[in-house]
Amino acid sequence: MRTKSLLLLLALFMGFAPLRADEGMWLPMLISRLNQRDLQKMGLQLTPEEIYSVNNSSLKDAIVSLGGGFCTGEIISGQGLMLTNHHCGYDAIAAKSSLENDILTNGFWAKDKGQEIPIEGLFVSFLVRMEDVTSKILPQLEGIESESERSAKIAEIGQQLAEEATTGTHYEAEVESFYVGNEFYLFVYENFNDVRLVGAPPSSVGKFGGDTDNWMWPRHTGDFSMFRVYMGPDGKPAPYSTDNIAYKPKHFLPISLKGVQEGDFAMTFGYPGSTDRYLTSFGVEQAIAKKNPTVVAIREAKLSVLRKDMKASDAVRLQYASDYASIANYWKYFIGQTEQLIANDVKTSKEKLEAEYLKWASATPERNAKYGNALEMIKQGYAITDGVVISNTYVLEGGLLGAGSVLFTYRFNKALEDLLKMPEGDEKDTRRDELKMAAAQHFEAVNIPTDRALFAATTTMYAENVPEAQQPEFLRDAKSETFAEWQKYADNVYSKSIFTNQDRLNAFLDKPSAKKLTKDPMKKAAEDFFGIYRNVGQANAEPNEMIRKGNRLFIDGLRQMYPEKIFYSDANSTMRASFGNVRDYQPKDGVTYDYYTTIEGIMQKMDNSDDEFMVPDKLVELYKAKDYGQYADKNGDLRVNFISTNDITGGNSGSPVINGKGELIGLAFDGNWEAMSGDINFEPSIQRTISVDIRYVLFMIDKVAGAKNLIEEMTLVRAENPKAPPTSAQDAPVASPTMN
Ligand code: ARG
Repeated sequence: MRTKSLLLLLALFMGFAPLRADEGMWLPMLISRLNQRDLQKMGLQLTPEEIYSVNNSSLKDAIVSLGGGFCTGEIISGQGLMLTNHHCGYDAIAAKSSLENDILTNGFWAKDKGQEIPIEGLFVSFLVRMEDVTSKILPQLEGIESESERSAKIAEIGQQLAEEATTGTHYEAEVESFYVGNEFYLFVYENFNDVRLVGAPPSSVGKFGGDTDNWMWPRHTGDFSMFRVYMGPDGKPAPYSTDNIAYKPKHFLPISLKGVQEGDFAMTFGYPGSTDRYLTSFGVEQAIAKKNPTVVAIREAKLSVLRKDMKASDAVRLQYASDYASIANYWKYFIGQTEQLIANDVKTSKEKLEAEYLKWASATPERNAKYGNALEMIKQGYAITDGVVISNTYVLEGGLLGAGSVLFTYRFNKALEDLLKMPEGDEKDTRRDELKMAAAQHFEAVNIPTDRALFAATTTMYAENVPEAQQPEFLRDAKSETFAEWQKYADNVYSKSIFTNQDRLNAFLDKPSAKKLTKDPMKKAAEDFFGIYRNVGQANAEPNEMIRKGNRLFIDGLRQMYPEKIFYSDANSTMRASFGNVRDYQPKDGVTYDYYTTIEGIMQKMDNSDDEFMVPDKLVELYKAKDYGQYADKNGDLRVNFISTNDITGGNSGSPVINGKGELIGLAFDGNWEAMSGDINFEPSIQRTISVDIRYVLFMIDKVAGAKNLIEEMTLVRAENPKAPPTSAQDAPVASPTMN
């Protein structure tokens, strides 16, 4: 079926604006199923085989997921050089910052490989291959009625398939469910865990605009950082060692210096974490009315505690920079999501689709028997979870993740209980030393007074907003009412517990006593929170099963209802590609937002008294001299960010934006405010991906940081006109943009 009639059908399906090719996160293996003519018309010049191939090197070999999926990165040289966002490297950069050498604030560039900084715990995964295993799973599920048994069976078979796929190799594999358990795919990965920091711009560039500009367009952020992947001398993954050598990729991305124009083809490739595009109207209602405002309120309280302490002390600022950034990121996300779910009237579009579905489902007795009840099941499921969703949100956001001591205590306590059971001897002494080291690490990362303030703030809110019957026992027993009382309560817990003071913990490790452990107040709090968490899990098991089963049938039904439509599955941290075009948009009547921003905007926003809008001197200098080298656009301006119609979400951060020839043109790093409901409903006319123009990245590395060694390592593709004069970094190799 061709696009025209497909579009009509889709318009019907969505009940409003016609859907464009831009919506959808596609499994690279399935790109060949999409209409190639349409993709070519959009501007794609690569074949599906050049994008995804198991036998030959292809685009997919240059794309990695970071740390199991929190972000995406891409390889841009034959020596394992990897680019991602600044906000993706943020935790690593902050962890390697100190008062003496604050690379988070000042930036950092390794002059040679010897200066690169190993990042413990960071790993990258390359996708080796993927396989449709639906036919190996679905037939074995026939006759299973209960959703939990079904899930257990899927997990069991998935485990087997993953083992079969990796025996005799160093690979790891996973089976993931698509379309809520209607299809299954196996993914085989090769993980590398020697990853080193190569460089990062100062925060004033990498996070320019701060929380004020976050999730907003127009934007002026240099959101990039650079790492290098290392492998053992044998070419296999190896833990950090000075013997390791730079990773030799099967493919790396050439970098385009040609820039983007309105309408240009743009493709993203990466690891989107999760979307809820098939969420029903009932789920939308619950998000708006209950879940989102609760998340926002708890995060707001935590942020205000952190803000105060971080302002008062530079050491605390570095300790909590990364925590603060991630709490703030989704604090603003949920504010925006609620606002835009309402503004874009997402509930009504969902209701329209549900009405269509019901009509379809009740058309024949067979359909009715299988699909007729799906929405009712979902509705009832939500009605039950409505009663506990607030307390669930509290136990997570305000309990287990409220103050850092809680999770630490829960885990460390388990280790202590094991230690208590060990007979005296060398083994126990070794374990004791290990635990002392782990404790030292923890106490270096937290500031106990800040943590105590977080504990006081979140317990106060917990007690005020959660029905007493759903509160953890220690909170009910505390019988505190006012904030002052809760503060006193927190002071008491923190002054007694062995888990909130390194000396007390060390003393305990030297002379462990079961009795002392039993009476510890932080242990009690941590265990109570976990108890509630487990209870909630049990209480929710049944309604969640109803919702899940309903959703599975709903999606299955939708796919039959519109057999010509190729449905994409929700994001689930597996590799996806999205296709779009560089495009401006109208945020409201009479207003158009251009598709790119320039350094002019940085100067307009500049305010060196506000740490969100500071501009490094060197950048101002180059701006005044208009010294942008080969990174200027045709008019001599320096472009900073641009937008395109690509469909991305969290996890895609750092994803390459690639032109029709497979060359890197930008790094995706955000979405826009007007479409903050986009994870639940794609908004074709206003939803945009925000990316850093790759020329701004190169300008920062070359002209601002002076790291020409890195520019030389990359493959730059200059304007089609071979006479175009290269200006700086002249020696960079110029490649013909073919896939190798
Ligand atoms: N909103 C972006 C995302 O989740 C992160 C942007 C980071 N910048 C910031 N100012 N917090 O992908």
